[in-house]
Amino acid sequence: MPKAYVYIANGGPEVETFADLPAPEPGPDQLAIAVRAVGVNPVDWKLRGGSTRPGQPAPVFPVVLGVEAAGVVTAVGPGVTGFAVGDEVLGGTVGGAYAEYTLLSVALAAHKPAALSFRAAACLPVAAATAYDGVHQLALPPGATLLITGVGGGVGVAAAQLARRAGLTVVGTANAGKKDFVESLGVTWVEPGAGVVERVRAVAPQGVDAIYDLVGGAALEEIAGVLVPATGDAAAPRLITAADSATVTRLGGVAVQRARSLAVLDAVTGLAAAGVLDPHVSDVYPLDRADAALRAVETGHARGKVVIEVAV
Ligand SMILES: NC(=O)c1ccc[n+]([C@@H]2O[C@H](COP(=O)([O-])OP(=O)(O)OC[C@H]3O[C@@H](n4cnc5c(N)ncnc54)[C@H](OP(=O)(O)O)[C@@H]3O)[C@@H](O)[C@H]2O)c1
Repeated sequence: MPKAYVYIANGGPEVETFADLPAPEPGPDQLAIAVRAVGVNPVDWKLRGGSTRPGQPAPVFPVVLGVEAAGVVTAVGPGVTGFAVGDEVLGGTVGGAYAEYTLLSVALAAHKPAALSFRAAACLPVAAATAYDGVHQLALPPGATLLITGVGGGVGVAAAQLARRAGLTVVGTANAGKKDFVESLGVTWVEPGAGVVERVRAVAPQGVDAIYDLVGGAALEEIAGVLVPATGDAAAPRLITAADSATVTRLGGVAVQRARSLAVLDAVTGLAAAGVLDPHVSDVYPLDRADAALRAVETGHARGKVVIEVAV
């Protein structure tokens, strides 16, 4: 039976294990795929730990880890049009991603352009789409300055590229080890931690027009002090986060509004295929090292994207 990496209860890494599970059959409006690559995300370990997503049913264990993948269609469910066996696709998974076979919902599945690798394609449904949603939510005019915290991670790297493409000046916080990397994306690097507000003001004396936070907690509390009082459209969000809704609400900001739409998936797929958006896959692990892949993200210090590749 095909192999999958699962958790058998909510908890820490100790609840993870490999399992042999039957290949899932596609239901209505679903595609079955042979997985080629999986994007590893913080939400994977957060769900394992017991976090819930809006509208998600309670977990039925074992639960296959992961929420996004790219692969090759092996079967199409009833009612599916526009996809056929053998198509190369990417999308948000139904029933997990760290597996040799899984399902995609056609509502969130796109054809993989030939110019795009399976590795890069697997990273688009979550990190790149979240970056896209946040940058569009802020809707800053060209020439404005956007501060991104955690700019060296999966969402940050994509958000920086999208913001630069929109004509924004981008300032970003990242560990000193990522300085050269984030500067290569056109980001003005700032070291996080004590004194970060002064360091941001030193590199952006004209002020920061908005913050896209990808860290949360104390880092979000501290960085919010960078924002000067709004002078323009007070209704426009100026402080958004993908990482910490509770803190951002207390600070007067808002959580990023996720579209989770085919339109956004198609948009980021097109940008990636055109070479405008590079997810910067830093580490690739085989499926039998899925535990190490998830630990690499769970440390909270990933560079770009971590991917699990499934051997053909
Ligand atoms: N709401 C949604 O739909 C949604 C979707 C995607 C992601 N998210 C959330 O958004 C957050 C970011 O996701 P991601 O995929 O980009 O995570 P990631 O790939 O793990 O990247 C996080 C980045 O933050 C940096 N970082 C950690 N502590 C920091 C600090 N104090 N100051 C500045 N940078 C710091 C990390 O590296 P260094 O410290 O080494 O710089 C790392 O590069 C996560 O909380 C994730 O769960 C939410």
